[in-house]
Amino acid sequence: MINPTPALLLAITLVLSQAATASPTPEIEANTIAIPLRKRTSFTHNGIFDKDRAESAGAATINKYRHNLKNIIKNLGIASLPEGAVIKPYATVARDVAERLERRQSEALIDINNELLWGGNISIGTPAQRFLIDFDTGSSDLWVPSRACTSCGSMNRYNPLLSNSSKPRPGIFEIEYGDHSQVSGPIFTDTVSVAGIKATNQYFSAATTVNGDFADVVVDGILGMGYPALSQLHRSPFFNTARANGNLKANRFSFYLAKKGSELYLGGTNPAKYKGSIETHRINLSTGFWQIPNARIKVGNTVVTSGFQTIIDSGTTIMYGPPSAVKKVWAKVPGSAVLDAENGFYSFPCATPPQMKFNWGGKDWVISTATINLGLTAAGSSRCVGALSGQDIGLGSNVWLLGDSFMQNQLNIFDFGSNTVGFAALR
Ligand SMILES: *[C@@H]1O[C@H](CO)[C@@H](O)[C@H](O)[C@H]1NC(C)=O
Ligand SMILES: *[C@@H]1O[C@H](CO)[C@@H](O)[C@H](O)[C@H]1NC(C)=O
Ligand SMILES: *[C@@H]1O[C@H](CO)[C@@H](O)[C@H](O)[C@H]1NC(C)=O
Repeated sequence: MINPTPALLLAITLVLSQAATASPTPEIEANTIAIPLRKRTSFTHNGIFDKDRAESAGAATINKYRHNLKNIIKNLGIASLPEGAVIKPYATVARDVAERLERRQSEALIDINNELLWGGNISIGTPAQRFLIDFDTGSSDLWVPSRACTSCGSMNRYNPLLSNSSKPRPGIFEIEYGDHSQVSGPIFTDTVSVAGIKATNQYFSAATTVNGDFADVVVDGILGMGYPALSQLHRSPFFNTARANGNLKANRFSFYLAKKGSELYLGGTNPAKYKGSIETHRINLSTGFWQIPNARIKVGNTVVTSGFQTIIDSGTTIMYGPPSAVKKVWAKVPGSAVLDAENGFYSFPCATPPQMKFNWGGKDWVISTATINLGLTAAGSSRCVGALSGQDIGLGSNVWLLGDSFMQNQLNIFDFGSNTVGFAALR
């Protein structure tokens, strides 16, 4: 449960500025297609690895994929489950960890030099009600807090009565995320607008219950950008609706995640953000993830393991692989050691960071020394924590999850038209 301190309330108020609902906010950034993204809290706090936050986010990731797998069964049938996939038990973190995170909420907001997720503005309704959103390629539903939510702290809330394009729809949306966190609420359709791109009669949930450990998450809600197969609402996600409405030039979007100028670009690829050609890979359409088959990982120039599937997920902070495969990778890194066997974290000598590369049959896509490093194991230590963790997410023994630690290293292009994911070198 969020129990915001006065400092936190103040910080949220300052950061998010005005509450969205009643004010006749003009349509945001009309006729633009690039939406600026703002960085959020990370696993690194003052240069030191934040084990509590990493553990809590790991549980959230397991629960997110637990939902994805359930939705795949519901939408596509059980035969579509990835081989070896299991619906894991609901993941939780120890109460002391949850309590420590809760106490630190206010710090997290002040520390803006961080990378847990990237948030950007959207608006819902007529006139526009504004929300700060996590754009998530690893899920396919949209939710924001409801006016009726009593557990939503200072989050912006959706008020259907103030929107003349709002329609209530039957059913209830319910999803569990991180530690004891749960989001549920009624379903609506309304006009949703991102960077001036509109989706009319877009299905979403206005959450009346937002419980649990949202210590890390200072956005209002989540906008899923995966395939419709992952949708719990079993409805067209925002991007697909906007495309069907004829409001997008091309059926693709691109993520640029950087220290400065991060953006989500809708309906194309921003030429200002990359150089050279785009390397595209057909995705495996059996699930609804942005899943590229036939990956290999190298440490230096040595291929450690190959032939695995990779899900490119903007809603996940670091990189996760099956524990046995990740162990092999770290075994190739001189001086590496297990840091936390339970959560699959490894450390390495900070002076000699590993050079890890992913390859799908084209170029090597290198994880920079900055993005592989989650910070010192402890204050004064000479050892650092790696952003590749061995975690059983429930996706089977051949599926890896590549989150922001990977995506920061190149431009990432998600194309519903050709069912490909593309990568291009940053300018
Ligand atoms: C597609 O993904 C599924 C589930 O992860 C896997 O079982 C299947 O082998 C993959 N197909 C290809 C061609 O890689
Ligand atoms: C979102 O909108 C608010 C209010 O206009 C603004 O202050 C903030 O910078 C915007 N955030 C992003 C990431 O564009
Ligand atoms: C809905 O609200 C908008 C903005 O306030 C207004 O321009 C429009 O005329 C309204 N439409 C209806 C049908 O009331």
